[in-house]
Amino acid sequence: MNAIGQPISRFDGRLKVTGGAHYTADIPLAGAAHAAIVHSRIANGRTVSIGTTAAGRAPGVLAVLTHHNTPRMKPLPWSHLRPQGQTYLPLQDDKIHYAGQPIAIVVAETRDQAMHAGTLIEIEYEGNRPVVFEPQMAREAIEPPQRMWPLSSLVGDADKAIADAAVKVEQVYTMPDRHHNAMEPHATLAVWDEDGTLTLYDSTQMVVGTRKLASLVLGIPEEKINVVCEFLGGGFGGKSWSWPHTLLAALAARVVNRPVHLQLTRAQMYSMVGHQAATVQTIALGSDRDGKLTGIRHDSVNPTSVFDDYVEYAALASRHLWRASGGISTSHRVVYVNRNSPVVLRAPMEAQGHFALESAMDELAYATGVDPVELRLRNDTDTDPYSGRPFSTRALRKCLIEGAARFGWDKRTAEPRSMRDGRYLIGQGVAAAIFTHWRWPGKARVTLNGGGSALVEAAAHDIGTGTYTVMAQVAADALGLTADRVVVRLGDTRLPESHPAIGSSTMANASAAVMLAGQAARKKAVQLALTGRDAPFAGAAPDDVVVADGKLSLARTNLNVTYAELLARNGLSSLVGDGDYDPVEEVNGPKAIFSFSALFAEVRVDPEFGLVRLNRFVGVYDAGRIINPKTARSQAIGGIIWGVGQALLEKSETDPALGRFMNRNFSGYLVPTNADIPNLDVSFVGGFDEEASPLGTKGLGELTAVSVAPAIANAVYHATGKRIRDLPITVEKLL
Ligand code: MOS
Repeated sequence: MNAIGQPISRFDGRLKVTGGAHYTADIPLAGAAHAAIVHSRIANGRTVSIGTTAAGRAPGVLAVLTHHNTPRMKPLPWSHLRPQGQTYLPLQDDKIHYAGQPIAIVVAETRDQAMHAGTLIEIEYEGNRPVVFEPQMAREAIEPPQRMWPLSSLVGDADKAIADAAVKVEQVYTMPDRHHNAMEPHATLAVWDEDGTLTLYDSTQMVVGTRKLASLVLGIPEEKINVVCEFLGGGFGGKSWSWPHTLLAALAARVVNRPVHLQLTRAQMYSMVGHQAATVQTIALGSDRDGKLTGIRHDSVNPTSVFDDYVEYAALASRHLWRASGGISTSHRVVYVNRNSPVVLRAPMEAQGHFALESAMDELAYATGVDPVELRLRNDTDTDPYSGRPFSTRALRKCLIEGAARFGWDKRTAEPRSMRDGRYLIGQGVAAAIFTHWRWPGKARVTLNGGGSALVEAAAHDIGTGTYTVMAQVAADALGLTADRVVVRLGDTRLPESHPAIGSSTMANASAAVMLAGQAARKKAVQLALTGRDAPFAGAAPDDVVVADGKLSLARTNLNVTYAELLARNGLSSLVGDGDYDPVEEVNGPKAIFSFSALFAEVRVDPEFGLVRLNRFVGVYDAGRIINPKTARSQAIGGIIWGVGQALLEKSETDPALGRFMNRNFSGYLVPTNADIPNLDVSFVGGFDEEASPLGTKGLGELTAVSVAPAIANAVYHATGKRIRDLPITVEKLL
């Protein structure tokens, strides 16, 4: 029986619930000291003086570092493609660009001592009024010089198509700043060996990128740096690029000549490690009377820091999702304000963009009188409107039809406020989604051991989604073993280089390298069976050898030999297969590769209090072949829960005068709890996509967080007749 396709529970689950999994801050290391960061109270200005005498004398203190005595780092210019969360390096000068910027680091015997000594530091500031983001500033936004993709796009003549359209809708949609709020705080343990090798145990989604950045900024060759992260307690993009605290921990460890643990506090995670920038998005749609789109225009603005050109590509999905006969135009601009640099946050670009696009589609459905599911079916397309290439696979139509059936969409009455349950207003909404499929190179090694088990190794990550398990399934099928005979090691730069755990790409790419490595190891074993010492299948053809359950058999004979016997016979303790997966970048390939979904939400709204509750939710996904239905379902329900937070709860508030994020904890920043979430109906309709990956899979994780918010917002409109174009949908907006 194949391991792929089985709903196997996560192998690391037991380790996690028993405390056997060591997260970065849990790694026990004798002699380690602890660092704490002291951060700025003002958002713009400079420090005039930093008094460290009292802190230096406090119990247990080993060192106090400020910009006066911190070793120098090499700043790098901004690029979306370099693994740095922000270019500005703190503790190198007296300047202050954002509230919460590190100003000093205290290193002490214990974390409590370091944090206490930090409170004794006396800082005198010279402050200017900070520039704080407000949506009106979108009018003054500019195109930044640095960018990852083209900022604007134009196919056809979108403006003319919209101007001439029989039906048009145009609206502004706004979304707030949000923070990742992984359960595990960002943490680093920095260890210098006597020979000058630096080992960084770091809570990161990219050990390889962190090594690269540390090498460039600290001026150490990459061969002298190891980065390790075996377990992540959530990342959501916040740990996808490297942040200054990791580098500062390395410097602090060098200064005190001891290993140093540095863990950010929950509040510090709001200012030291990125966030999702707010967006102000304007969408205009034009259509004929039957709801067939003639034009789409989507323009987005986001704030970024004063030093980095971070662009939130919210209009990206509008280039690809729907056909518009007359044209599609998109643009992105930024405004520079006093804050730390924004970064990707789970389903960056798409999750914000779809709120605007799929809310606008619902508005168009009401403007034309076409059912919202039917409207989407009418605007479906087999070719990517942006590049003109055919989609590799696109089961969006199936997602919509299957989802509507599971949900019972045919029982919905279209009129707003027409459905009730007792005193509650009932609303039903739909939204579709498209998500970029990423193709990245990665390497992996598979070792068959003398005992007949196998070891998989790659410097990839299990971000908490089940990579340890699914890679074992992939290797098991490649080798002809059962998955429980495979051990997987990840998250260490000493293993074969792989790509970061970002863009929902690990299953399709890093795991493809595992498949290739497994196949290479199996091929070597088959070769031994044909030509090795005492070869059991001497003279046979390789294609006639079948491997299952660790046993090689020759077709049409009763000859067989186990991996263990084969290795022993040849005096080998192991057999190694290398995998090197190097796909063509998607943009250069013959097909446009994306994953898709259709989402259906039912809400009940209390008409007197404006409180919105999710009643039920149906998600149907096309993410290609599903390797493990159980871990895939977990991703989907996790993504839906994220979307519920985005729709109804999450917002990082900024003090308009002080420029600080204010609600820096879980009592001020709300995320959904179990009580907010009903049963979620999740299913998969995609098939093998050979363009996407040799494993046939497309990106899934982040897809599932996309378009939950518009499905809910559209349901709220259906329930109440109120169109909320500003997230989150809180009670005061419905009263
Ligand atoms: Mo994900 S936001 O691409 O780490």
